[in-house]
Amino acid sequence: MPSPHLNDLIAARLSRRQALRLGAAAALTPLLPAWAREARGAPLVARAAAAPPDAPDAHLWLKEGYVATRLISWGDRLRDGAAPPMPLESAEAQLGAFGYNNDFIAYHPLPAPPGERRGLLSVNHEYTCPRLMFPGLPAPAAEDPDAPPPLSPERLRVEMAAVGHSVLEVRRDARGWGVAWGSPYARRLSALGPLMPLRGPVAGHPRVRTAADPEGRAAVGTLANCAGGVTPWGTTLIAEENFNQHFVGDPEALRAGPPEARREVNNLLRSDIAAGAHGADWHLVDPRFSIAREPRESNRYGWIVELDPRDPARPPVKRTALGRFKHECATCALTADGRVAVYSGDDQQGEHVYRFVSRRPYDPADPASGWGLLDDGALQAARFEEGGRVVWLDLTWGEGPLTPANGFDDQGDVLIEARRAATLLGATPLDRPEDVEVSPLTGRVYVMLTQHKARKAPAPASPRAPNPLGHIVELTPAGGDHGAREGRWEVLLLGGSPEAGGLRNPDNASFDPQGRLWVTADAHSSARPPFANGLWRCEVDGAARGSAERFCAVPAGAEPCGPCFTPEGDALFLSVQHPGEGSTWEDPATRWPEHRSDRPPRPSLIVVERAGGGAL
Ligand code: FEO
Ligand code: CA
Ligand code: CA
Repeated sequence: MPSPHLNDLIAARLSRRQALRLGAAAALTPLLPAWAREARGAPLVARAAAAPPDAPDAHLWLKEGYVATRLISWGDRLRDGAAPPMPLESAEAQLGAFGYNNDFIAYHPLPAPPGERRGLLSVNHEYTCPRLMFPGLPAPAAEDPDAPPPLSPERLRVEMAAVGHSVLEVRRDARGWGVAWGSPYARRLSALGPLMPLRGPVAGHPRVRTAADPEGRAAVGTLANCAGGVTPWGTTLIAEENFNQHFVGDPEALRAGPPEARREVNNLLRSDIAAGAHGADWHLVDPRFSIAREPRESNRYGWIVELDPRDPARPPVKRTALGRFKHECATCALTADGRVAVYSGDDQQGEHVYRFVSRRPYDPADPASGWGLLDDGALQAARFEEGGRVVWLDLTWGEGPLTPANGFDDQGDVLIEARRAATLLGATPLDRPEDVEVSPLTGRVYVMLTQHKARKAPAPASPRAPNPLGHIVELTPAGGDHGAREGRWEVLLLGGSPEAGGLRNPDNASFDPQGRLWVTADAHSSARPPFANGLWRCEVDGAARGSAERFCAVPAGAEPCGPCFTPEGDALFLSVQHPGEGSTWEDPATRWPEHRSDRPPRPSLIVVERAGGGAL
């Protein structure tokens, strides 16, 4: 339990009148430094064993010599760190609290006194697990186990408030890491808002115009926020991944509708929106999630959102030039001539890997000029060839097959239907491309390919058919230039192979400053034999190249996401997403992290350090 902290004590001394005169947290800041209002994180009791568990366990396991601290969990209030009584039954309460299923984490350093650290954590919230968020729900139906349970309208709004993104201020002093509760930087984005302007070629496009936004200029909030990236100018890129799961209806039924609805049928199908397949019932409280009511609404999701975590008043924007698909991530690198390259995987079996290259270079002397740089540039998709060559193909309207003859009337059409455009160009179908990471030492690029159980035959960059355990592919850009038209590819590691040390189904990844690749495994908890998802440290150079060692195992039902290092490499932030997934409020598979009988398991953000300090 967090101990009482100075903020509580001072707040209690303020009369209500004084508090009103002082206003909100931002007004308190000059009187009360964030440091003083901070609560220490809670040390986590890890599973005490030298060896990792063979099967999922109720606890976290860490390699010996490392310690973990819980910084924040789903439902913790951002203004004071309190965890209100569970369940959270109002969207308003959820909007003031850390969201559900935290995923990608970006660390943005802030100035700090010597020997201390201060920064902002920018954290995605991907989706909800209603049977673990609320009591009293019926068990899944045998004939449709993935159907969402019946929820009251307010519970549906709680779900909408629980996804999106959180910005937190964190600090470390001699006592350890903690959240600066009530920081003026603290912020929530969700599926309820704020309004996010569309920028780039799709802004104002007819195919993003809806009844609520006849100009097609801004989408309400963000959802399905999976991995992401950090720009050279210090903003967060938020990837909208499985947006399809929120849209309800039968695309085929639109064939009998007006022309603007008919036009979307194939686009909806390629976006994986299908009759009877959805993960939430938000259409019951917000008709824009019904494709019969708003066949174009889903065209406003599946983008990369850029957020300035240092300016809480600045609206996040959707950068449409980076294309629309199930974006896993948005990993930035600079080209030889200083332009910005952004790599992104499209997480579905048989989909592609993409790269965006800005038209203008980034000016490091003027970081503020980076805002808007991603609105103009070339989107490309990768073609992998026999013999190890990879070629980047431009998704440029009017070139090759990307013409009105194929239903592309402008660049907006190409970006909205980036999947179809890339396939027509000859981009290579891959084994569910997840995260993409760039080595800070060598500039080589690593693509996590999580699995493709339906693959019929091996192909370039896809050596196994079927491929239930996934692999990692390494790309070497020609001349070390992320703007080069081509490069070389090579398989680095096969999931489940002896060298992989138990690593399978690679998903998220991150480089530490020493150039080692840390990779999460996401095998579904139903995997047979039982498998404990976790984090592996993988060597990409030297004699041990292509080998991996297990570092952490997460509790039953959970998946680790968003590994993120401080620039010094002495702390690793990690999301523990969906502990207990597949079980219920009444009978959870674990009550991690608190193991309290009055609380369900709670997705949480932890920080891992070496027991004696120093680089991990
Ligand atoms: Fe949201 Fe591809 O994991
Ligand atoms: Ca992921
Ligand atoms: Ca995943």
